[in-house]
Amino acid sequence: MSSELEELLPEELNSTERELLESAKSVSKRAYAPYSGFHVGSAVLLENGQILQSSNQENVSFPAGVCAERLVLGYAGANFPESAPVMLAVVAQRRGEEEWAGVSPCGICRQTINEVENRFGKPITLLILKSDGNVLRIPGISHLLPLKFDDLNQ
Ligand code: THU
Repeated sequence: MSSELEELLPEELNSTERELLESAKSVSKRAYAPYSGFHVGSAVLLENGQILQSSNQENVSFPAGVCAERLVLGYAGANFPESAPVMLAVVAQRRGEEEWAGVSPCGICRQTINEVENRFGKPITLLILKSDGNVLRIPGISHLLPLKFDDLNQ
C-alpha cells in the first residue's frame, strides 16, 4: 500500500467524513441487488457542501447493472455541473448480514472517478469502509489507478 493511503480508526474521522459514511451506509439499505446480494452505498460531498447518495442498481442482464459510485457521480454531474465532487465514500454489506463488508471501487468506477477529477481539475478524496470498521482515506484516484489511460497523453 502506498504511503498516501491512510487507515483511520472510526474515532479519528472528522464530522464531515462521518456524515458522508453514514449517508453511504443508509442508502446501501436501498440497494437493488437481487442477483449478487451485495448491497453497496456511495455518497459524494460536493464543493458546495451538498451530499448526494446512491446504491447499486442491478439488472437481469448483468452488465446493465450499475455500481453505486457511478450512479452517484453521474447524478452529481448531471444536476450540479458547477460544483466539484471533493470526497466520495463507499460501503457494502452482504444480504442478511449485520457486519459491513470491505469494498473498493471496481475498475470502471475508478476510471469514472478519474474522469470527474479531470473534469473539475480536483482530486476526490476516497473513503473506503473496511470490514473491521476502520476507514481507508485515499487522497485521489491516481493512488488506485497508476499509469492510467490519460497519464501519457499530455
Ligand atoms: N458494486 C458497486 O456498486 N460498487 C463497487 O465498488 C463494487 C461492486 C456492485 C456491482 C454489483 O451490483 C454488486 O456490487 C456485486 O458486484
